[in-house]
Amino acid sequence: MDIGTIVDEGLGNASYVVDLGDGRALAVDPERDPGPYLEEAARRDLRVAFTADTHLHNDFVSGSRDLQELGATVLAGSEAHLEFPHRGLRDGEEMDLGGLTLRALATPGHTPEHTSYLLLDGSRSLAVFTGGSLLRGSVARTDLLGPERAEPLARALYRSVRDRLFGLPDDLAVYPTHGAGATFCAAAPTDGTDPRTTIGREKGQNPFLLAPDEDTFVRDLLANRTSYPRYFRNLREVNRRGPTVYGGRAPSLGPLRAADVRRLLGEGTEVIDVRPVEEFAAGHVPGALSIELRPAFATWLGWVVPGDRPVVFVLSEHQDRMELVRQCLKIGFERLAGELAGGMAAWREAGLGEARLSLVQPGEAVEATFLDVRQRAEFEAAHIPEAIHTELGSLDEMADSLPPGPLTLHCGHGERAVTGASLLERRGWEGLAVLLGGPRDWSRTAGRALVPGRPA
Ligand SMILES: [Fe+2]
Repeated sequence: MDIGTIVDEGLGNASYVVDLGDGRALAVDPERDPGPYLEEAARRDLRVAFTADTHLHNDFVSGSRDLQELGATVLAGSEAHLEFPHRGLRDGEEMDLGGLTLRALATPGHTPEHTSYLLLDGSRSLAVFTGGSLLRGSVARTDLLGPERAEPLARALYRSVRDRLFGLPDDLAVYPTHGAGATFCAAAPTDGTDPRTTIGREKGQNPFLLAPDEDTFVRDLLANRTSYPRYFRNLREVNRRGPTVYGGRAPSLGPLRAADVRRLLGEGTEVIDVRPVEEFAAGHVPGALSIELRPAFATWLGWVVPGDRPVVFVLSEHQDRMELVRQCLKIGFERLAGELAGGMAAWREAGLGEARLSLVQPGEAVEATFLDVRQRAEFEAAHIPEAIHTELGSLDEMADSLPPGPLTLHCGHGERAVTGASLLERRGWEGLAVLLGGPRDWSRTAGRALVPGRPA
């Protein structure tokens, strides 16, 4: 079976392009930019004729509507109640893909309308696309629709996997969507960065599914609850209604003069500086938020900035504008007001004043309190003794409960900590610094051991 895998390292997701054997292809859980699917299909001399979504995604805008504009038929579970033209498949319903058959399997749990797709050649199973139900060494979380639905959905997930997916042949190839690297959609980290697995492997090794009964499974699943990016709350409805289609003409970032950027900032536009953190530290627009452009950019943008707010960017000359726009659009950030023309040099030339941030090397003495902004699980695994902890995603609302006085923020490398420092700086916090590097670098240079455990 010829199935191409397209990985989004930033979101930790995979999507697939399936060769249907007759010159046509099926895309499964495509992201918003149709480019990679069209390229993958073209490379094999195929045309994307079908696109299927396993569920209403929380973490990205589906690309199915864009592929539809280019001629693909959209397939979805009938319970998704999409508000744009599509073929809704009920549980057990089959779709003829021209020789091969796609059978919908209702597998509620991660979300109520979740549907897996079994690909068949006659009566022979070829592959199953399990989206956000069965993952390699994990399962997807069930609390994204709110804490009150987490338990009933966890029970539904147990039955979906045990009664439906585990009834498939042991040697059947499983193609999940979540788990191509770190993903906030899994209940616990998946095994490795290749999400693909088999039914037999998961029956024998999946720690959640080795639970002796449903109650144990539910308890283990719900015990693993962690935070997730704020933008997750909005995208299901965007995907159900159908996102704006750009038809391959993604918006570009228009140039803005320094004076216009200052005016927009005063009117509530978010100024986001995506340059490397060292450049941000050396001088930036006062009030700008630092989120360095990297694979995790979209996650942190969607966590610390409301999705309906207009945004202006500060870039360095050689950064990839198209990549920045792609990352914004894939999580539904559409109000892209432009970029500071000429970058920080133009801002300086306009004499509008700039702010700086102190960076500290791991070997340097630090008198200030360490503020660790990593995820809770990272902190609990090992942290600097006496460090206090607030996840970056909650830092803005927790700022008033931080101890007064100078703070040295850190994360694993520095990028999240600089985002955190920029959030505190614009609240008027003084005495901020960022440790370049993570706790391990600090431990090595300080000659002191890290400690495990919860925050005091
Ligand atoms: Fe999901």
